[in-house]
Amino acid sequence: MTQPKKLFIKTYGCQMNVYDSERMAEAMGGQGYVQTDSPDDADMILLNTCHIREKAAEKIYSELGRYKGLKAERPDLRIGVAGCVAQAEGAEIMRRQPMVDLVVGPQSYHRLPELEAKARGGEKALDTDFPEEDKFERLKSRPKAKRGPTAFLTVQEGCDKFCAFCVVPYTRGAEVSRPADRVLSEARDLVERGVRELTLLGQNVNAYHGHERGLAGLIRELAKIDGLARIRFTTSHPNDMDDDLIAAHGDCDKLMPYLHLPVQAGSDKILKRMNRQHTAEQYLRLIERLRAARPDLHLSGDFIVGFPEETEADFRDTMALIEAVEYGSAFSFKYSERPGTPAAERPQVPEAEKDDRLQRLQALLTRQQRALQDAMVGREVGVLFEKTGRLPGQMVGKSDYLHAVHVAAEGLQPGDLRPVRIVESGPNSLKGVLV
Ligand code: SAH
Ligand code: SF4
Ligand code: F3S
Repeated sequence: MTQPKKLFIKTYGCQMNVYDSERMAEAMGGQGYVQTDSPDDADMILLNTCHIREKAAEKIYSELGRYKGLKAERPDLRIGVAGCVAQAEGAEIMRRQPMVDLVVGPQSYHRLPELEAKARGGEKALDTDFPEEDKFERLKSRPKAKRGPTAFLTVQEGCDKFCAFCVVPYTRGAEVSRPADRVLSEARDLVERGVRELTLLGQNVNAYHGHERGLAGLIRELAKIDGLARIRFTTSHPNDMDDDLIAAHGDCDKLMPYLHLPVQAGSDKILKRMNRQHTAEQYLRLIERLRAARPDLHLSGDFIVGFPEETEADFRDTMALIEAVEYGSAFSFKYSERPGTPAAERPQVPEAEKDDRLQRLQALLTRQQRALQDAMVGREVGVLFEKTGRLPGQMVGKSDYLHAVHVAAEGLQPGDLRPVRIVESGPNSLKGVLV
């Protein structure tokens, strides 16, 4: 019997990369690879990269540098770069770092087995095309192995929005949706293998049009799958939030009361220069409508501080918007210049200013997050248990609102979904008791 070859994948960036890495590992299973968690005994190392902020490429070069010794010891070791840095700088990576055997862009993962065979044969393999065919349909079908209770499922890829700061439209290409029947059959398959919660993924997931009634139509179909208990989706753009999707938050029990809806900034001047195509007021009205449909909805967002030409007054508008919304969680970043994007050409805000704004913004967001989390104490919520906790007899799961919840109880299994009364709120998680 031949020994299986070992594949080490390191994943950077967004959840879509996490999903892609899973699918690539499965595809490489067909080439006789099993996954390993260490690069040291790997026959192939694959970096699944992210290009969203500064120094992304430098990080990859320094990571590659760490494998030099391994490659010298074992010339048979193959090294590949996938993901958004591969898409943006693939050819350059191959030139600058000769130890890289394979470069594959996010749209070409179905070609990975071919590329691996080529690299194994000693040739350089590069594919950063935007092919017409759907990579997921061309990737082999998913193996039947048992799964944990939660899974990501990519339903949409790419972005047509061209926010002035963002590389995603260039690295992931135009918006494409997977047909609903394919998504539904992948979802059924995942549920048969133990998945109870699905997070639908897309760079603009609510621009999904693989179902005639859009993402809401898909969610309503998914909700009919027995055994599937929870549905989430991310990331949404405010302008693609249609009436039916808003309504689904009120009338679809399986759709969880948590929504990640990035706004980036609260100043109309900055929103306009970001090319976000909506005002702060329109965003706030949308939140009102969502909360009318689902009053206990928790909101999450992304914020950028120090976008070119952002003044202190613009920044205060962002703070005011945050005060008005009250977020349950959020991600915030200093603006990072991305070569080739329009904002990179504009006058930049000094670094110290960005640092100061980020600190103030994060302090406010942390306060809000903590307040909403503390307000859970005394309430009863559903918790989907995922794994054992650090203390004996303890299980950890996620609440409907995505809080981590620790519960001490005998006999709970990963995948159990139980009502829990929250009794304590700690810095990063809640403690509860079974009801
Ligand atoms: N499609 C999603 C998010 C894509 S990237 C959306 O439209 O919201 C994730 C987040 O990274 C963005 O929401 C933004 O806040 C941040 N981001 C993107 N480009 C950035 C840049 N050049 N500098 C700083 N943050 C950036
Ligand atoms: Fe980037 Fe904007 Fe597209 Fe989101 S909507 S991926 S921030 S261009
Ligand atoms: Fe990064 Fe590409 Fe995702 S740039 S955030 S890995 S789409």
